[in-house]
Amino acid sequence: MRDEVNQALLDLIQAELEHGAGEVAVEAGRVLNAGGKRLRPLLFLLAYRVAGGTNTDDVMPLALAFELIHTATLVHDDINDEARHRRGIPTIHAQAGQAKAVIAGDWLFVQGFGLGGRYSEQIVSIIARCCANIAVSEFHQLDHVLNLATTPEDYLSIVKGKTAGPFASGCYAAGLVAGLDDEKAKGLERFGMELGIAFQLVDDLLDLRGDERMGKPRGADVYEGKMTLPLIHALTLSHGRNRERLSEVIEQFTDDDFDELMALLKRSSSVEYAEILVQTHLERAQSELEKFPDSEAKELMLMITNIVKDRHT
Ligand code: IPE
Ligand code: IPE
Ligand code: MG
Ligand code: MG
Ligand code: MG
Repeated sequence: MRDEVNQALLDLIQAELEHGAGEVAVEAGRVLNAGGKRLRPLLFLLAYRVAGGTNTDDVMPLALAFELIHTATLVHDDINDEARHRRGIPTIHAQAGQAKAVIAGDWLFVQGFGLGGRYSEQIVSIIARCCANIAVSEFHQLDHVLNLATTPEDYLSIVKGKTAGPFASGCYAAGLVAGLDDEKAKGLERFGMELGIAFQLVDDLLDLRGDERMGKPRGADVYEGKMTLPLIHALTLSHGRNRERLSEVIEQFTDDDFDELMALLKRSSSVEYAEILVQTHLERAQSELEKFPDSEAKELMLMITNIVKDRHT
């Protein structure tokens, strides 16, 4: 299934190049086809099958739309996060400059919306609302940069908007495309939301763990002042000298502080706390899926929920 998604994305870029799109398609295509996990399109193709759909052609444009929009947000996210690598290759702004990267992100976004716009009014507005919520949440996240009073509720609301929302909307829309009634499709939406929350929690943990397979350096979130759950938890539980030191490390973080930060997080078991929450959200996702009839697609979706927990990239 991943090969099919990859081929469709290659074909899309090729067709644009043949229509004279030039450098914008080259740059966008470079990041688009640098080897993302394709988790969202795969999930949406599977959700469609779990919902009883049998014709992949009916759902493929939706799956591709979400992957294109996702890649667009990554291009813009990397500008704002000053990230120089993505999917193991140089980011567009690092390669072609910020102005072109902004436009290439827009180009990817519009390609995605062109595909998503083929669906019913209800589905188009699900996609639009989901994209609007990404923006709303990224604004909230910016307003919380280095805000040491950020609460777990703030964090969860940001994560729902920027990451889990697209997982939820894609699963919901895939269910509707397959002909599910709204109530049943909402079960898939809840599945996507829970899985997406777990996914971002893991992403934030990976940033603290650091692993060259990720294709980006460790500690980038702390460096950019992003208040992730392990930090929020540790700030709540620490006191006295440890709390003071933790605040200093967060506020003036450099790579040299990395080991000390991890030691401070360890004192309050904050990484373990986040890991337990990952498990909770994955179990909730799985129980939503259990309500659907058994099928190979359902097995594969359950398998993906387990992969999310153990992923390295
Ligand atoms: C990265 O998403 C952005 C987040 C929401 C954490 P992925 O980890 O799915 O990125 P790719 O698509 O596999 O590169
Ligand atoms: C991704 O969040 C959120 C988006 C919707 C783009 P991050 O900023 O954590 O993503 P990475 O870690 O750079 O992939
Ligand atoms: Mg970001
Ligand atoms: Mg980022
Ligand atoms: Mg991240």
